[in-house]
Amino acid sequence: MAAPFPNLQSLVDMTNSLHRDRMIESLDTSAVLVKRKENEHRVRSESPTLPAFARLAISSRARIERRMEGPMASISLAPAPAATAGCGSGSRFAHVQQAPEDPIYGVTNAFLKDPSPVKVNLGVGAYRTEEGKPLVLNVVRKAEEQLLADKSRNKEYLPISGITHFSRLSAQLILGSDCPAIAEKRIVTAQCLSGTGCLRVGGEFLAKHYSGPKIIYIPATTWTNHFRIFPNAGMEARTYRYYDPKTKGLDYEGMMEDLRAAPSGAVVLLHACAHNPTGVDPTREQWAEIQHLVRDEKQLLPFFDSAYQGFASGSLDADAWAVRQFVNDGGETLVAQSYAKNMGLYGERVGALSVIVKDPDVALRIESQVNLVIRPMYSSPPTFGAAIVCTILGNKALYEEWKVELKGMADRIISMRHQLFDALKARATPGTWDHIVNQIGMFTYSGLSKEQVEYMKTEYHIHMTSDGRISMAGLNTRTVPQLADAIHAAVLQFA
Ligand SMILES: Cc1ncc(COP(=O)(O)O)c(C=O)c1O
Repeated sequence: MAAPFPNLQSLVDMTNSLHRDRMIESLDTSAVLVKRKENEHRVRSESPTLPAFARLAISSRARIERRMEGPMASISLAPAPAATAGCGSGSRFAHVQQAPEDPIYGVTNAFLKDPSPVKVNLGVGAYRTEEGKPLVLNVVRKAEEQLLADKSRNKEYLPISGITHFSRLSAQLILGSDCPAIAEKRIVTAQCLSGTGCLRVGGEFLAKHYSGPKIIYIPATTWTNHFRIFPNAGMEARTYRYYDPKTKGLDYEGMMEDLRAAPSGAVVLLHACAHNPTGVDPTREQWAEIQHLVRDEKQLLPFFDSAYQGFASGSLDADAWAVRQFVNDGGETLVAQSYAKNMGLYGERVGALSVIVKDPDVALRIESQVNLVIRPMYSSPPTFGAAIVCTILGNKALYEEWKVELKGMADRIISMRHQLFDALKARATPGTWDHIVNQIGMFTYSGLSKEQVEYMKTEYHIHMTSDGRISMAGLNTRTVPQLADAIHAAVLQFA
């Protein structure tokens, strides 16, 4: 049945965001429509003859009032502006609906609005020091100083695919300097706008030029942006099972079953390490089986998303192990690398997309087509972040220093895992919490429910995404007891 109040579904969606003014306006508009409909039907709003959508408008307003802890402005029966905006107000954008808030930025917004002095933000996937502050690595500061002191540098445009030296160093970093694909020139690497940009450019290149099915299989639980990036790039996104909430581990059987059922030649997105948000990676034995299925059984095309190299275990080589296994078997592979986390270059937007193929001539042609994807998108990438990366990777002393700092970040996160685990054990918090120490990387996928997360926000001022993902990098020794108290209380409250 067509909805008589076409905007009501988005209105319900808006109850999840806290755009009070927009909601009031839209709800009032809907309420006016409801009142009119009531008169027409000579029925009360509770009447079962009133369409469900109409009743929803009224109840939504009441729900939002409760959430906002205070009444909204009284419902006016005069038509609200949005009702006539299409003609009267003259805006050609009056029909534009409020987009749902991004889940991560939503957490940050709620955190900023929380007046509590003890509030803690465990939503954002960015490293924080023991003092809770953002960290600029010393090695990055040194590289910046070197770059600023070099007066021969200029601000000219980079080539479409960025700094060539950066691309070579990035390929060596992820694939190893002895990788045969590099020696045989079977690789194309382009500097892109951090991990997101690499995935977007890679996705569009595949949508335009891949000879296999233009379908990408994404883990059913994943970094949510994957679900937007690939369809926007022109690929069909489908999911494979990955996370098992019962074991809080890998649903290995489900994953293999789903990949086995995929059309031959489809693309499969694999997290290189430290799967976001679950912190669950396949074991090396499982990777070997996955590789066999991908390469031999189904001829799938692996697209690795490497956002956490070195940040997960503290070792750049260990975290690149799975990618290297695939590339060194000679098969074709795509890799998206981000320097956001491991060099702390979040806002500099530095990343590298590599396409590894079987033939150097094909690689040359691919390079021209990757450039053709980038050129109309943003012409060429920015300079400074990539110059920082080149300075660090190209200088032995700085490179060694980076590895030490990187390990320091990874170790602090691992220590937070142990502290939280011990704190929950000390409180005898019901449930099993082994996954806190077993999961890998920046996040713990806690298994806490939406209600528990909400409770921890209101009662303990702990902010995290509603799926129960905890950014361990945001924790410190001072906040661990607060989080453990919050989890303990939430578990008891919603047993
Ligand atoms: C799995 C995964 N891929 C890619 C990214 C992209 O990050 P960025 O674009 O900041 O490099 C992230 C960031 O959180 C991520 O978690």
